[in-house]
Amino acid sequence: MSKTTTISFAALSPVKQGAVVILAERGPVLSPAGKALDKASGGAVMRAAKQREYKGKKKTFLDILVPEKLGLSRLLVVGADELKDYGDREWLELGGVIRGKLSGRDGQGVTLVLERPKKPHESGGEEAAQVALGVMLRGYSFDKYKTKAAKNKKDSDNNATHLERLTIQCANPAAARRAFAARKALGEGVILARDLVNEPANILGPREFAARARKLDGLGVKVQVLDEKALKKLGMDALLAVGEGSAKPTMMAVMNWQGAGPKGGKPVAIVGKGVTFDTGGISIKPAASMGDMKGDMAGAACVVGLMHTLGARKAKVNAVGLIGLVENMPSGTAVRPGDVISSMSGQSIEVLNTDAEGRLVLADVLWYAQEQFKPKCVVNLATLTGAILVALGKEYAGLFSNNDELSENLSKAGETAGEKVWRLPLGPKYDEMIKSEIADMKNIGGRYGGSITAAQFLQRFIQNDTPWAHLDIAGTGMAAPKSDVNTSWGPGFGVRLLDRFIADNFEK
Ligand code: BES
Ligand code: MN
Ligand code: ZN
Repeated sequence: MSKTTTISFAALSPVKQGAVVILAERGPVLSPAGKALDKASGGAVMRAAKQREYKGKKKTFLDILVPEKLGLSRLLVVGADELKDYGDREWLELGGVIRGKLSGRDGQGVTLVLERPKKPHESGGEEAAQVALGVMLRGYSFDKYKTKAAKNKKDSDNNATHLERLTIQCANPAAARRAFAARKALGEGVILARDLVNEPANILGPREFAARARKLDGLGVKVQVLDEKALKKLGMDALLAVGEGSAKPTMMAVMNWQGAGPKGGKPVAIVGKGVTFDTGGISIKPAASMGDMKGDMAGAACVVGLMHTLGARKAKVNAVGLIGLVENMPSGTAVRPGDVISSMSGQSIEVLNTDAEGRLVLADVLWYAQEQFKPKCVVNLATLTGAILVALGKEYAGLFSNNDELSENLSKAGETAGEKVWRLPLGPKYDEMIKSEIADMKNIGGRYGGSITAAQFLQRFIQNDTPWAHLDIAGTGMAAPKSDVNTSWGPGFGVRLLDRFIADNFEK
């Protein structure tokens, strides 16, 4: 991962050096600091605004060279439209947008003056913390394999954007600092998830992935890693079948965070698909963009990132994260199309396509999660189907659930966090599509409704009415389009969504 920017908070006071960033709302109406600078520069700011017809629209900028006597290297006006309309997501994006305009060339002293132009009394620290998180997330890049770019040198092409330090001035810096402690934990979790998704599969196999999960021990998260022998003993033949063709071992990692203590009751369980590489197995995928399948562990990456966040911010919740780690390879020992395998639940599965492996992984890990923890609810994340990309593109993750309330809560959390989910149906007619001639079920449902039949398959491993939701993140979890808060291939999707979901529903 890239070096992160050191962010600190300070009280509002005139900025006398370095680069300064100020806000403008519609008009433009400058913030008090902006007005002061405009005055000190003999009206240079408003003159430039007029000349360039600058209106303070969201995500627009006015970049000004100020008179030397002010001592500033740069004055950047950031348009924000109407800040009264801002929620968490907008503040986050504002931070990202601002970070995108800054670079190492702005030197050491960048100060962001976070004042509301149209509302003199500022609110608490939440907004500043959210802006800081946006800065943190936008600044991320995965550059560990770039040997030629002299890292962090501000004149090197690859690292021209590294920003060493940012001071955020705001009305209540103490509150901002407090709020950012939790947001920073979240930022770290997202970045951890991105690092895992971006990492190539020769470096990050099941064993290495488990080792990264194990590191959460240091935060007070209890981590247990089960090897093939232990999985076999538990009867996890579905998970094991996926790894049979690979030279790498299959594993499961269980991360337990008891932040609410024994009184907190049963945990929330979060389950992730961790296929460290998906060739398709004997039902091999075409060569074009198979390389993307290093990201087929984005669900598991999200779970590790989330558990990091919960531990690092000492979340008052009991939560357990479980990930199935396995590589799907073709070989003489690989599972074949037509094979019938067993599962921990006792149900038999006819494997008609070895590329529909994610559901086999989840079948056993979901079952184990319920047997072992009797959780309040289970949410799983998986880059499960290409069909979800056909249905929803890269804008929404697919949501499938047996529980309306859980669905609602996830949808709401997604809206606030800016990681959106869209619910799709389940039903008995879809379930019929995975009936097998010779086993309890088959692992493919035919040409139509591929994301739904995959979800139906998972639902067969959910015990009587455990509230359960499945997020299909094949479209949102990897190969991400660039956004205000992410420019990396691996977006770390789901960490913000689930952190918000847990904070809003289990910590209050
Ligand atoms: N990992 C893939 C799904 C995927 C596709 C993730 C594109 C990210 C981007 C999954 O294991 C898979 O191969 N699914 C098959 C299922 C089919 C064989 C029923 C698919 O979507 O084609
Ligand atoms: Mn596959
Ligand atoms: Zn897969």
